Amino acid sequence: MSPPPADPKPVSPKPGHSKAPKGPDMRVKIAGVELSSPVIAASGTFGYGVEFEDILSLDRIGAFVTKGLSREPMAGNPSPRIIETPAGMLNAIGLQNMGVQAFIAQKLPKLRTMKGAVTIANVFGYTIEDCIEVIHALNDAPGISMYELNASCPNTSHGGMVFGTDPESLYHLAGRCRQIAKRPLMVKLSPNVTSISLMARVCADAGADAISLVNTFLSLAIDIETRRPRIANVTAGLSGPAIRPIAVRMVHEASRAVKIPVVGMGGIVRAEDAVEFMLAGATAVEVGTASYADPRAVENIATNLKKWCAAHNVERVTELTGAAIL
Ligand SMILES: Cc1cc2nc3c(=O)[nH]c(=O)nc-3n(C[C@H](O)[C@H](O)[C@H](O)COP(=O)(O)O)c2cc1C
Repeated sequence: MSPPPADPKPVSPKPGHSKAPKGPDMRVKIAGVELSSPVIAASGTFGYGVEFEDILSLDRIGAFVTKGLSREPMAGNPSPRIIETPAGMLNAIGLQNMGVQAFIAQKLPKLRTMKGAVTIANVFGYTIEDCIEVIHALNDAPGISMYELNASCPNTSHGGMVFGTDPESLYHLAGRCRQIAKRPLMVKLSPNVTSISLMARVCADAGADAISLVNTFLSLAIDIETRRPRIANVTAGLSGPAIRPIAVRMVHEASRAVKIPVVGMGGIVRAEDAVEFMLAGATAVEVGTASYADPRAVENIATNLKKWCAAHNVERVTELTGAAIL
C-alpha cells in the first residue's frame, strides 16, 4: 500500500532522469520514487553523503542512505569496534551519529546543492516514540526522498527485544511510523530471525511501502591469547561477502512473501552480485562494506551493472527482478 503523496513531496529525480537514457534503461521505481540506477549506497558506510562529494558522482548512483539518525546525538560504542574477517567485517559502531536536528541543520542544506543526490534518511530509536520523533523532525525538512527504518534496534520499553525479531513489535513500529511518515517508508529487516517471510509480511501488513534486507548478522570473535572478545561490545554485526549467499536466500524468500518492492543487500562487491540479488527478487540493491575497501565501489558497481546489462541484451534493468529460474 502506497501512502498518499504527502507534503513535502518525495524529492523526484532531477529533470532528465525520467527521459530514457542511451543504452540499457537503468531506472527503477521504489514506492513511487524513481532512481536513475538500482544501485544505492547503504546506511552506515556512506556517512551523511556529503563526505563523498569529491570521491564519486552522486548522480551516477541511484541514491544513498544516511547513517542511522536518532532523536539525540549518540557517541556509539567504545573501541575496538571494527575488525576484518576472512570475507567481511565485524562492526559494533553502536549507531554513532550527530542526531537528527544536527543532520537537518548541518548536512541537508549542503546535500540539496549536490547534483543528483537522492537522499534516503535512515531512522532508528529504542522506543517507537523515539522513531516517531525522528520522522516528525525529518518530515518538514526538504531534500529527502524516502525513509529507511532500521528495525534492528532493541526495544527498551519491551525488555530489549530487537524490534525486527518480534512480529508484534515490528508490526507496531512499522504501522505507527507509516502513519506519521510524509514520505515513503522502507523498513529494513534484521536477518537474525527464523522466518524472514513472516517479518516481510508483517511489514507489508503494517503498511510499509518497501522493505530492505539484510542488516548485519549477530556474531562473536574471541582473541584466543587473551580469551577476551575482539570487539569491546562483545557481540558485533557481520557484513561483507561472507553473508552474501544467506542474504540472497533471504531476499528471495522475502520477495516471494510480499508484493511491495524489496531492496536487497549483503556482501555486494561487483555488478554481478547486484544482478544475483535482482534475479532473486530485489528491485534495487544497497552496497555497504565494499565502500570500506574502495570508496568508489558504489559508483563502479552502478557503471558496471549498466555494462553488464548491455553485454547481456538486458534492455531494462527491471527485467532482472525475480527472473531467476528456481
Ligand atoms: C560500519 C557499519 C555501520 C553500519 N551502520 C548502519 C546503520 O547505522 N543503520 C543501518 O540500518 N545499517 C547499518 N549497517 C548495515 C549496512 O547498511 C548493511 O545492511 C550491511 O552491512 C550488509 O551489507 P554489506 O554486506 O554490503 O555491508 C552498517 C554496516 C556497517 C559495516
